[in-house]
Formats: sequence, structure tokens, C-alpha cells
Amino acid sequence: MRHLLSTRDLDRETAIEILDVAEDMADVAIREVKKLPTLRNKTVINLFFEDSTRTRTSFELAAKRLSADLINFSAKGSSVSKGESLKDTAQTLAAMGADAVVIRHSASGAPRVLADSGWIDAAILNAGDGTHEHPTQALLDAFTIRKRLHGSASRGRDLDGVAVTIVGDILHSRVARSNVWLLNTLGASVRLVAPATLLPPGVEHWPVELGFDLDDAVDAGPDAIMMLRIQAERMHAAYFPSAGEYSRQWGLDDERFNRLRADTMVMHPGPMNRGLEISSRAADSGQSTVLEQVANGVSIRMAVLYLLLSGAVEQGRAS
Ligand code: NCD
Repeated sequence: MRHLLSTRDLDRETAIEILDVAEDMADVAIREVKKLPTLRNKTVINLFFEDSTRTRTSFELAAKRLSADLINFSAKGSSVSKGESLKDTAQTLAAMGADAVVIRHSASGAPRVLADSGWIDAAILNAGDGTHEHPTQALLDAFTIRKRLHGSASRGRDLDGVAVTIVGDILHSRVARSNVWLLNTLGASVRLVAPATLLPPGVEHWPVELGFDLDDAVDAGPDAIMMLRIQAERMHAAYFPSAGEYSRQWGLDDERFNRLRADTMVMHPGPMNRGLEISSRAADSGQSTVLEQVANGVSIRMAVLYLLLSGAVEQGRAS
């Protein structure tokens, strides 16, 4: 593996390897000395063209726990045209000797462009590109599900037969896309529940079941229900009548939360719109994995950085 651009092209074996290495990294996180010397002398650049709280800080913490040098490069506010600025920026980072670039960009495919460009010879990690993919989020979600289900006996396992329901703004969600591919690869069954206006064209070809009634989906008793944020910043049209109406039909409110199986995991990638797609009661309950997802994100990003960068120099020299 040279880059991590999507979960769509991740095979089962590699995905499980990442989850297993993340288990080892999680063990490090509970030690008093949290740092590993593994990536000493490596330089990781966080290149964020879009806002982020947890993904950026999570990658930062992950790189630091592996003793890499980490530089936050916030590209927001640049007025240069996108293609040009990406090229210029990439060449600048290459000149600085970056070994890995973690990129978040509003344009779907930007990480792929960087990986294929020849502008920079670094490992490229997609931290969210437009509405396309967010692979480390899906990996941390799978890790969270596996860990809740199997605890310390998680290593080596896939998610065979696990039922996951993803609810809400699928249209704009790179989290949903990355989860659909990865969960499918790991053997889980995925159901998408959303208003028809928030489903992307072509969704009928995805390896999922479609539902248009959240109450039915709740009563079906999934192992995990993943609530997605309404991505207002990507909405340039009216996709539903009002916030109140959305929450009544598509929100995990207290009443629906009470009807869930007592051991159904309630997931959300954050940031949450409390009271819109998820009630505070559901988000703060013992069934909620929201904070576990954040904590596990660091372990997953450590695993991915480790797998991509240990040996990356040798690969670079050989090619
Ligand atoms: C997600 C993202 O940016 O795609 N957030 C995250 O990375 N934790 C989901 C979202 O913004 O709704």
C-alpha cells in the first residue's frame, strides 16, 4: 500500500491488517509512555483546504505519538485557482521533504490527483475529499463496531453478518460512501435510510438495501445505527421542507432511541447537530459510540501512517 485514497479499493486482508495494527496502537495509548519512536525523522504534512476539528487533530496526535515531525498547513483562503494551487502547494511540500501528506479538500478526487501527479513523491492520505470518500473515518467506524462486539478478542475478525443502518444525508456524505464500501468488504450488511432527495443518483447499484422509513429501520433492530450530519454547507437547494420536519421524519429522537434494541450502537462521525439528526439523550447514552469513535480514530491513523511510512523511503528509492 503506497497511499490511502479510498476504501473502495481496499481488500479484506488489508482492511483487517489495518484494524489489527490499530489494536496494537490502542494498547500504546493506555500506557504511561504513549510515544513510539517508529516514525522518527519522517515528516507528515496536514494539508487542509476544508474545516476540520477531529480529523486534523487526530492525524496530528497520531503522527506525534509515532514521533514524526508534523506540520499543519492550512490552505484555506487561498485565492489561486484550485488546480494551480494544488500543484504549487504539492511542489512546495515536496521541496520540504514531506514523507506523507494528509489532505482534505472540497473537490472529490483531489487526493487522487496528488497521488498520480508526479508533483510529489509522498504517501497521500485522503482525509475527506468533497462528497467522495473519507477512508480513515470508515476504518475507525469498523474498528469501533468490531471492538464493541468482540472486545479484546477482536483481532483477525471481520464484520460478517453485522447489520449497520446509515441514516440521513447520504447524498453529501463521504463518510457514508467510505462506510458502504468497507462494511461490504468486511461482510456486514448495510441499509441506507434517507429521504429520496438525499440519496445520490446510482445508489441502486451500491451493495446496500434502501429504506425510506426510519421507524421500520429502528424496529428492524440493527447492530449499529449511524446518524449522519445534515451537511448544510454543501446544500445549495432545499432538500427537505424544514429542520423540524426533517427531525420528525429522519431524526433519532428520544422516542425512536427508546425503541432501539438495548445493545444497538448509536454512531455519529461528528460534528453533531443535536436536536436535528440526533437527540442529546441518544448521543450521550451508553449506547452511543461517539467518543469511542474519536479515541479510536487516533489508533487507526497511527496504524495507517505506520503501514504507509515504515519502508516508504526504501520504496521511493527503488522506484
Ligand atoms: C465528517 C466529514 O468531514 O466528512 N466529519 C469528520 O471527519 N469527523 C462528517 C461531517 O462533516 O459531517
